[in-house]
Amino acid sequence: MTTQASAAAGLEGVVATSSKLCYLDGQRGVLAYCGHDIHDLARQATFEEVCYLLWHRRLPTRAELGDLQTEFARARPLPTAVVRMMRSLPSGHAMDAVRTLVSALAHHDPDVGDDSPAASLRKSVRLTAQVGTLVATLGRLSAGGGQIDPDPVLGHAANFLYMLTGDRPGALASRAFDVALTLHADHELNASTFAARVAAATLTDLHSTVVAGVATLKGPLHGGANAEVMKMLSAIGEDADDERVDTTIRGMLARKQKVAGFGHRVYRTEDPRATHLRQMSRDLGEQAGNRRWFEMSQRIEAVMQEDTGIHANVDFYSASTYHALGIAVELFTPIFVVSRVAGWTAHVLEQYANNRLIRPRAEYTGPEYPQTFVPLAQR
Ligand SMILES: CC(C)(COP(=O)(O)OP(=O)(O)OC[C@H]1O[C@@H](n2cnc3c(N)ncnc32)[C@H](O)[C@@H]1OP(=O)(O)O)[C@@H](O)C(=O)NCCC(=O)NCCS
Repeated sequence: MTTQASAAAGLEGVVATSSKLCYLDGQRGVLAYCGHDIHDLARQATFEEVCYLLWHRRLPTRAELGDLQTEFARARPLPTAVVRMMRSLPSGHAMDAVRTLVSALAHHDPDVGDDSPAASLRKSVRLTAQVGTLVATLGRLSAGGGQIDPDPVLGHAANFLYMLTGDRPGALASRAFDVALTLHADHELNASTFAARVAAATLTDLHSTVVAGVATLKGPLHGGANAEVMKMLSAIGEDADDERVDTTIRGMLARKQKVAGFGHRVYRTEDPRATHLRQMSRDLGEQAGNRRWFEMSQRIEAVMQEDTGIHANVDFYSASTYHALGIAVELFTPIFVVSRVAGWTAHVLEQYANNRLIRPRAEYTGPEYPQTFVPLAQR
């Protein structure tokens, strides 16, 4: 017996809401935030401009951008209690720590309990600023370094690298990281954004919606894929020749294993974000004097094209890009949070502004109704 029309597996092709934020055309490989093509944003905008664009649906003036930068600088330092909590967590998956600590930040937010539109926007700005510090500090402490305070004169991307490494990054590294943040900031109804919107539609608070987003992003089919790519590259080995690369990938395909960093539910062309990340992976590898990870990635891409026609997605060249920036693999997925928190919060604000509870139906496939109830003593 079914109560509904057949469900689309994974909700493929289902239009679940309307949104003014992200335009995605998977056939033509187009991605745009509020009408602005991702290639223009990657080449010309900073992450802070993109945050403003997503929250206000238009690009900021110079004065508005200045105000946002000031708000970010003010909000970046973490509450001492949250850093203490970070230090007290047992070692484990970095995304578990991010999830717990985003939740902890809610307790210290001056607007806690105020879910008005103005307070939710303030929380979005504050949380986006704080998450950069949170992930950088997490990486710094896990590597045995001491906590580094944010530098108010640095932008968001440069601050992240500075707080993580203790060194002020060069122009290429800061720009590359800034572009990576822009590219990951929003992506329509991806799984974590959908999770955040479902949470928002119950009118829960903004921090709770972001916790839902973090929890969903962790999975290897979503944000966890960039770390899986690096693990795959490392397992193949820096010294591996092309033949070994080819055999490994073809072996995975023969065993019907998914190759991390390839495939997408929506794109049937190259993921437009991969175009920029490929270039950054090459440039940063060259600057670091090690092109091997980039070359190995290119080889894998060629094999995947030849054997399956499946394209690289955003996660594939993020891996070698972050590696060339000296970032540990455990931080790859948390870095996705540093950026996507802007998109999640923009979607949550949009959901709050025009809300209806999201409550779909399931196609019932269980035992036939009605079943006879056998009392416990007779079972
Ligand atoms: C992204 C992803 C989850 C999309 O899933 P989806 O839309 O449900 O697509 P499916 O998993 O049904 O894949 C469709 C077909 O392509 C194949 N395929 C998809 N991605 C593949 C990959 N990365 N490696 C090998 N084959 C892949 C599937 O095996 C399937 O083949 P089949 O029809 O012969 O069974 C999927 O491509 C994937 O698991 N990729 C690897 C993880 C990843 O990079 N995630 C980050 C996404 S940004």
